[in-house]
Amino acid sequence: MNILILGGGGREHAFAWKIAQSPHCDTLFVAPGNAGTAGIATNVPVSATDFDALSRLVLEKNIHLVLVGPEEPLVRGVRDYFSARPDLEHVLMVGPDAAGARLEGSKDWSKAFMRDNHIPTAKSATFTADGLEAGLNYLGSQPLPVVLKADGLAAGKGVVIAESRGEAEKTLRNMLNGQFGEASRKVVVEEFLEGIELSVFVLTDGTGYVILPEAKDYKRIGEGDTGPNTGGMGAVSPVPFADDSFLKKVEDRVVKPTVAGLQKAGIRYVGFLFIGLMNVNGEPYVIEYNARMGDPETEVVMPRLQSDFVLLLKAAAEGKLAGTQLETDPRTAATVMLVSGGYPGPYEKGIPVTGLDDLKDVISFHAGTKTGPGGVFTDGGRVLALTGMGDTISQAVEKAMAAADKVQFGKKYFRRDIGSDLEVYV
Ligand code: AMP
Ligand code: GLY
Repeated sequence: MNILILGGGGREHAFAWKIAQSPHCDTLFVAPGNAGTAGIATNVPVSATDFDALSRLVLEKNIHLVLVGPEEPLVRGVRDYFSARPDLEHVLMVGPDAAGARLEGSKDWSKAFMRDNHIPTAKSATFTADGLEAGLNYLGSQPLPVVLKADGLAAGKGVVIAESRGEAEKTLRNMLNGQFGEASRKVVVEEFLEGIELSVFVLTDGTGYVILPEAKDYKRIGEGDTGPNTGGMGAVSPVPFADDSFLKKVEDRVVKPTVAGLQKAGIRYVGFLFIGLMNVNGEPYVIEYNARMGDPETEVVMPRLQSDFVLLLKAAAEGKLAGTQLETDPRTAATVMLVSGGYPGPYEKGIPVTGLDDLKDVISFHAGTKTGPGGVFTDGGRVLALTGMGDTISQAVEKAMAAADKVQFGKKYFRRDIGSDLEVYV
């Protein structure tokens, strides 16, 4: 079949890499894609949120299946748009509708969902601008640190862990005053959970599901988990502290009630569920849901997936996932993100990238890149994800690091400590 991937980052290149290996994929398109997807698929210069243009593309290229990468088209209702068009009814889509994407698009909605379905999560309360006084009083009653979250999508910047009362009060005022526009007109104030994070990924057709390999990502820009949050600077899969008994708790206490809760809410959720978890003394608590796969987590999950990805996507879109068994590579995958100097703040674009052709023993996934005269150029903050595989975390990381040293572009930066915190659990 002909397949279209929406998006243009490392996650979408990893999807494309896996899909291109399947005998069930005829022609693969990516909208808009990057320099990496250009090598294995046809890039189409259409934005993932331009639904009219996407629908024309789907009809013109006879596309059978659309895989939605990022959250924005989902939250804006790409699935709803396609379902409402009789001429697009036959098109299979992997990605939930806008109602399902509220799990990611509204933290308040997702907290209420977890409460209603008895899914373990941090205690919280939600405030709006007219409840500022109540919010300030509530903050006064909470232990420190305390976590404040803008309700809506805020490009990964809407979470503040306040260490002092002053900072907490100031953050609440700023957010409710519209610091993140509409996204922070509601603020969730949440108990701080002490533990170690990991993410579990589920592909569901609304009733049946498969659990994909779990991963841990490294969100902060600096080594030793310091400095501002980023989209993710690296990832490792599997996660050694996520043993069978922990993953069983995740499935029983989180995955099953989440899938059942969505059904109860009248949502037919077809797509990926990214469950961000805190392991608190061996007990899983949900930190957040995303309605999509993670980036750079996909860059370690896809290389470990041995099952045919196209058949999985098709089964999900057709409601036939129940009973599916996944085949996974037991080895460890580790990815390191090369980023533009300055990221997650301002950075330059359009810098030539060299050394890509000499890479050995690593899979290079492009993120913010574009093809230009004579080669590849940087086109974003996160530029390339380099994934190594090995029998141990250190073997996998060493391969990724060796490649990270070889690739060159002006002001390249990456973290050398990916996976090092996991060695104590091995
Ligand atoms: P979120 O956007 O909800 O994933 O939050 C971003 C990051 O903030 C998470 O990945 C955690 O590192 C941290 N965080 C969020 N909520 C909590 C919490 N309740 N306790 C501790 N850390 C948290
Ligand atoms: N790496 C975290 C995310 O994709 O949200």
